[in-house]
Amino acid sequence: MTAIEVIELRTIQDSRGNPTVEADIYTQSGYGRSAAPSGASTGTLEAQVKAPKEAVENALQNVIPALIGMDSADQESFDDQLRDLDGTVNFSEIGANIAVALSLANAKAAASSMGMPLFRYLGGAFANEMPLPLGNIIGGGAHAENATEIQEFLVVPGDTVDAEEAVFANAAIHRNVKQLLAKRGKSCGKGDEGAWAPQIDDALAFELIAEATGLVKDEMNITVDMGIDVAASQMWDGEGYRYRGQVRSTEEQVAYIAELVDKYNLVYVEDPLHENDYDAFSDLNNLVGDRCLVCGDDIFVTQVDRIQQGIDTDAANCVLIKPNQVGTLTDTYEAVRLAHTHGLDTVMSHRSGETTDTTIAHLATAFSCVFLKCGVVGGERIAKLNELIRIEEQL
Ligand code: PGA
Ligand code: ZN
Repeated sequence: MTAIEVIELRTIQDSRGNPTVEADIYTQSGYGRSAAPSGASTGTLEAQVKAPKEAVENALQNVIPALIGMDSADQESFDDQLRDLDGTVNFSEIGANIAVALSLANAKAAASSMGMPLFRYLGGAFANEMPLPLGNIIGGGAHAENATEIQEFLVVPGDTVDAEEAVFANAAIHRNVKQLLAKRGKSCGKGDEGAWAPQIDDALAFELIAEATGLVKDEMNITVDMGIDVAASQMWDGEGYRYRGQVRSTEEQVAYIAELVDKYNLVYVEDPLHENDYDAFSDLNNLVGDRCLVCGDDIFVTQVDRIQQGIDTDAANCVLIKPNQVGTLTDTYEAVRLAHTHGLDTVMSHRSGETTDTTIAHLATAFSCVFLKCGVVGGERIAKLNELIRIEEQL
């Protein structure tokens, strides 16, 4: 019933118009499809992507034949086989894009073969907590030229809200920000994740979001909090954090972020320091970790050895989870499990380059992540948010 019979691979378009890999896996009684996303502000230690066309050709010859006949319900063996066929530590031989598309498609094929939704198959009977959507409202950095310096200004409705209401609250905030920008005569172009990308400074971005959020809070009678993804590895030049008109030392960066946390009551700060500075992460976590999630993305790259180092140094209280940073679902699960075992929260995340694949909505629910980090608008973003609404309906 769950034995793999056919695997198809192809290149499809992602949200930036770039080619990416899509995999279809057919078992005797089921079917799963998944596509690899891609990042723009990637961590240097992420699993390695291979050019999609070349990667597909190679995989059809050297990977797929060894997967036919395997049991899709044995996810660990499937993922081990991918690792064995690759033979490197970072999927540089077959490509992490091939690996993640196959690994996720396999789980979906197994779930489908058993007639179960993916979140239930992976999470079991006790996966009943909905993650809340952490929405990207205004952005710049590597996702839009000449916009804000902090890469992402995020919002998340309070935890008494259900996921559906939260999805619509984020959309309303996004709409309100457009009106506030228009009032100030600012352009309303969008970045790669659908966040507004105006030429404004970071202080104004905070102000606009606070104002837009206030309107929605009153209208919907809910609480909404703010967060940021600094993506500080992109600012780090080896000596300091380069902002327009000034460079902040590591100590100044820690103090600046702590100040932002208090000034705007931030509940979430991602990558406030560069990807190798566990010590400064730890300093910040000590300062604000009691009232704010200090989340590691580029520093952990969803890999257990990096997360373990973060646990040992008390560098963060939250781990960003991106399956394509590590390449397989088994490795993704191990990352989540390690974080949760040590009391760290997890946030399941999209990438800036996405497809209409909805798998991360299921993973966020199955793995009890506190948030699903995603854009607010755009087909490739709403595909995931609408899936979250459908999942909630089934709980
Ligand atoms: P990326 O950015 O997908 O472009 O790497 C997202 C993030 O930094 O969280
Ligand atoms: Zn990030």
